[in-house]
Amino acid sequence: MAYNLLKGKKGIIFGALNENSIAWKVAEKAYEEGGRFILSNAPVALRMGNIQELANACETEVIAADATNVNDLENLFKHSMEKLDGKIDFILHSIGMSHNVRKGLPYDKLDYHNYMKTIDISSMSFHKVLQTARDLDAINEWGSVVALTYVAAQRTLYGYNDMADAKAMLESIARSFGYIYGRDKKIRVNTISQSPTPTTAGSGVRGFDSLLDFTERMSPLGNATASECADYCISLFSDLTKKVTMQNLFHDGGFSSMGMSYRAITQYNKSFEDCND
Ligand SMILES: NC(=O)c1ccc[n+]([C@@H]2O[C@H](COP(=O)([O-])OP(=O)(O)OC[C@H]3O[C@@H](n4cnc5c(N)ncnc54)[C@H](O)[C@@H]3O)[C@@H](O)[C@H]2O)c1
Repeated sequence: MAYNLLKGKKGIIFGALNENSIAWKVAEKAYEEGGRFILSNAPVALRMGNIQELANACETEVIAADATNVNDLENLFKHSMEKLDGKIDFILHSIGMSHNVRKGLPYDKLDYHNYMKTIDISSMSFHKVLQTARDLDAINEWGSVVALTYVAAQRTLYGYNDMADAKAMLESIARSFGYIYGRDKKIRVNTISQSPTPTTAGSGVRGFDSLLDFTERMSPLGNATASECADYCISLFSDLTKKVTMQNLFHDGGFSSMGMSYRAITQYNKSFEDCND
């Protein structure tokens, strides 16, 4: 059911690659809620994915931008303001990638060139988006910027690798820029810490299926889906959350507050049933 929460609002949504992407669901819901927006992704992703289908369904267009490239971002913001007839109100940063994760290099055998790329793509790009928007004065007062993150920023989770460091930095950027943007322009900056979700980026993490099962058993409300994450994003873009800023908001069915659950320990105990030690 739609509530017109984004009626009259305009935005930019980064990171929709295919129908599993969290950004894809956010775009669908933003459209349902009356928002108008531009879709953006890296040039290579436009060739790999099917973002144009999404653009057609949402009556919009795609502007390519490598989010690590400030020139691309400037071009994106300028063209978005032209196409949307003015400044924007919301931005979703739904971008993450690690070549170290992709290549299966463990945390104590990282390739440092890859490590820098991880940071540039997955966290510094968020600073670049914010700084470019601010330099161009591209966001209206009471606008809202959201980036997606993961609990590995606070707790060590096997297999998340250098992405954990990138997410810690991403969350810190939300606080540091959130202060400046809030003070000067009344613009909110937050991160949403989402449950493991079966997407292209998520499934690349080592042991992802077991992680998904484990967090499902640990979370009193179960894992949050991509579609539920999209609902939460919409609420943060809406005027119902105007005084929420500089926060890392867990959207994980309660996982981040759990130590052990009955469902998880029961499953764990099964592994001892056939052995004596
Ligand atoms: N899937 C999960 O389990 C999970 C959990 C918590 C947080 N997140 C975060 O959610 C966000 C979206 O990921 P997703 O799970 O929807 O996967 P996804 O693979 O669908 O999305 C990742 C996107 O990042 C884009 N991207 C990569 N490099 C880029 C660049 N240089 N410039 C612009 N875009 C670039 C990709 O093209 C892709 O669209 C990421 O920040 C991810 O870390 C995912």
